[in-house]
Amino acid sequence: MICLGIESTAHTFSVGLITDTGKLLGLSSDTYMPSEGGLKPIDVVEHHYNCYDSLLKSALIKAKIRLKEVGLIAFSQGPGLGPCLRVGAAVARALSLKLNIPLVGVNHCIAHIEIGREMCGVEDPVTLYVSGGNTIISAFDSDHYQVFGETLDLPIGNMLDMVAREIGIPHPGGPRMESLSKLGKKYFPLPYIVKGMDLSFSGLYSKIRSLLRNPNLWQKEYTQEDLIYSLQETSFAMLTEVFERAIAHTEKKSVLLTGGVAANQRLQEMISIIAKNHDAEFHVVPLKVAGDNGAMIAWAGIQQFHSGGADLIDATKIKPKWRMDQVPIPWKKEVEN
Ligand code: ATP
Ligand code: FE2
Repeated sequence: MICLGIESTAHTFSVGLITDTGKLLGLSSDTYMPSEGGLKPIDVVEHHYNCYDSLLKSALIKAKIRLKEVGLIAFSQGPGLGPCLRVGAAVARALSLKLNIPLVGVNHCIAHIEIGREMCGVEDPVTLYVSGGNTIISAFDSDHYQVFGETLDLPIGNMLDMVAREIGIPHPGGPRMESLSKLGKKYFPLPYIVKGMDLSFSGLYSKIRSLLRNPNLWQKEYTQEDLIYSLQETSFAMLTEVFERAIAHTEKKSVLLTGGVAANQRLQEMISIIAKNHDAEFHVVPLKVAGDNGAMIAWAGIQQFHSGGADLIDATKIKPKWRMDQVPIPWKKEVEN
């Protein structure tokens, strides 16, 4: 069976086609880039409506299949921005009705984990899911992906993007921030806020913003690249500390890094070092499916459909605040460590 997955939780509209054996057939995505500032939902919705049809066609062309060969439609039901989620849900419902095939609504965060597990061939990891909208440390236990730690305020990717905007780098600024951090040499002490197993990035953001607006406070001794390097080192050390405690607590023997920020090589290095210290295998999701994409939604949709069947149209209302630990995972087996 081939599943067509639709992703539209935030800035990206994406269509992915995957078989129930995990073969990725086609993936087409388009990310809305604001000319300045952050994401305005009204503009993102316009973007999504303008591109969904051509993305659908190009994903089918890449997969070399016709629409009628699709046997299942999956879409991101939440969490995400309500207006953006509604576009994906509307397209998914229309396709399911037109083709008279089943429809499933998928939790976006679980899809990030499931595609990582499949592509990396890892059964039971502790996962660090880091993106523009989420920062979650989780592991499977008692039929759910339990959340062991998460951000209390800003997600890590959003924080990096906000700092990037402050210095004139357009959204999403994470990749440029990574390049600039490599030019930094000297560490500037910054707030490090870990509360139990949770993280807070807002104090760090306020501090760096205030420093960037007052260069007289540091310019004699530090460069802007030093500040960005220090921001990355501090925020990634916070993530690494909490994640290490989750590995120690769960005693799992593999770790998975997923979400858009997983592309960052320094974060990969820090997480791989602690994995090694705990004799756990380190996996990072392939870059092609690290950020928001329709393939991960299609793959999670296949798991869900095989274990629980299709959703009725009435059950496909969007869920902007849907937590991943509320979703039972009947397709995954309990693994003894
Ligand atoms: P979600 O809906 O899952 O929260 P998202 O909408 O933020 O996801 P993703 O594509 O998963 O989308 O992640 C995008 C984020 O990843 C952006 O904040 C971007 O700056 C960040 N990012 C991408 N590459 C890098 C990198 N090399 N270093 C740091 N951050 C990065
Ligand atoms: Fe995402």
